[in-house]
Amino acid sequence: MIQPISGFSKKSKEEKIAWLLSTYLKETTEAEQTLKKYWNADSDLQKLHDDFIENTLTNYYLPFAIAPNFLINETLYAIPMVIEESSVVAAASNAAKFWLDRGGFKAEVISTEKNGQIHLNYYGEEDTLKTFFSEIKPTLIASIASIQENMQKRGGGLLDIELLNATDTLEGYFQLHCRFETLDAMGANFINSCLETIAKTFETEAHKNSLFTEIAIFPEVVLSILSNYVPECRVKATVSCPVEFLNNKDIDGATFAKKFVRAIDIAKAETRRAVTHNKGIMNGIDAVILATGNDFRAVEAGVHAYAAKNGFYNSLTHAKVEDGIFTFWIELPLALGTVGGLTSLHPMVKLAFEILQKPTAKELMKIVAVAGLAQNFAAIRSLVTTGIQKGHMKMHLMNILNQLAATTEEKNTAVLHFKENTVSHRAVVTYIEKLRR
Ligand code: MEV
Repeated sequence: MIQPISGFSKKSKEEKIAWLLSTYLKETTEAEQTLKKYWNADSDLQKLHDDFIENTLTNYYLPFAIAPNFLINETLYAIPMVIEESSVVAAASNAAKFWLDRGGFKAEVISTEKNGQIHLNYYGEEDTLKTFFSEIKPTLIASIASIQENMQKRGGGLLDIELLNATDTLEGYFQLHCRFETLDAMGANFINSCLETIAKTFETEAHKNSLFTEIAIFPEVVLSILSNYVPECRVKATVSCPVEFLNNKDIDGATFAKKFVRAIDIAKAETRRAVTHNKGIMNGIDAVILATGNDFRAVEAGVHAYAAKNGFYNSLTHAKVEDGIFTFWIELPLALGTVGGLTSLHPMVKLAFEILQKPTAKELMKIVAVAGLAQNFAAIRSLVTTGIQKGHMKMHLMNILNQLAATTEEKNTAVLHFKENTVSHRAVVTYIEKLRR
């Protein structure tokens, strides 16, 4: 029977691997070799990665690619993407090329505000709490002076604190709702440090304030944390062209545009479709978020909550045809950073920013929104015409060939063969077996 282990994090990397091998991996040399094969020969670089998290054993590779030809507000970008799904970068590149010939993408940042809350229990008179809050608000703000000094110098910082009565959702529940501008930083650490300091000051002040000492019903801090729901930090990206510019050899532009708009309407009407539709958008978004060292879980959580803002989950993208003009756009919340966090630590992240010509957080918001819109365009275009599998399986072909340990010669022959034939797992296996006979 496996026994729990204590003090694991204090062990050396070799000791951790030895424990893992003996406890879960039957001491196989293959497992050990796999773990060590991915160590970086540059010990400083390895140490840097080891230190990102606790209990690092090795590195986990994902491909780092670029999707070129993205014309965004008249600037041409090659967008770095980190993702494992075979067709995502190809789809992004196709969509970029398609819109390059039709005026490119337009993008605008709507707002950049972030927020966090100090969640309170309070069962006394609301007016007492209100009086106390307005009395101590300047003290609360003063308590974070040193934390926000640098941020303020650059034009950011705490914007305001508001006391909110949330007792209609939960008995005795109040909030200090705090709004922030964090400029080029994603700002999670800054916001959380401010919130925790404000919370501490709030409780200290409450305990010495006669308003409460006389009645002995003190407000109590439950927790303080930023919110990853950032509808006030929003960006919009758009493509647009006359419908006849959408003509291609298989379908005329007007019919294509009509089918396309209908597909978006379905994703607006039906949650099951909307989830997959938005998943496709996140293929593009997450890939850029990962390449630029941003927090994809925060973005995912915030974006999906935004997709459900009207009370039911639906499409993040919109499309219309008006006066013969096809317009397709996305509007979504994105709290991103181009300074702080991993951005100055991970060499590949630094390189991604160089590829993007050192964008500000606002520029990165636009690029990421465009990546999401492009991905959705590529997916819907396939879905309403050829279907998704043709392109998808073509891109997946190499994975199947690698699973079958195909030689370079076998791969080249197979790629030629499947240019003309439908790719399926079965078809590739049969083809390779035949080749090998
Ligand atoms: C696959 O990763 C993404 C799609 O399913 C998105 C969509 O259905 O719109 C193709």
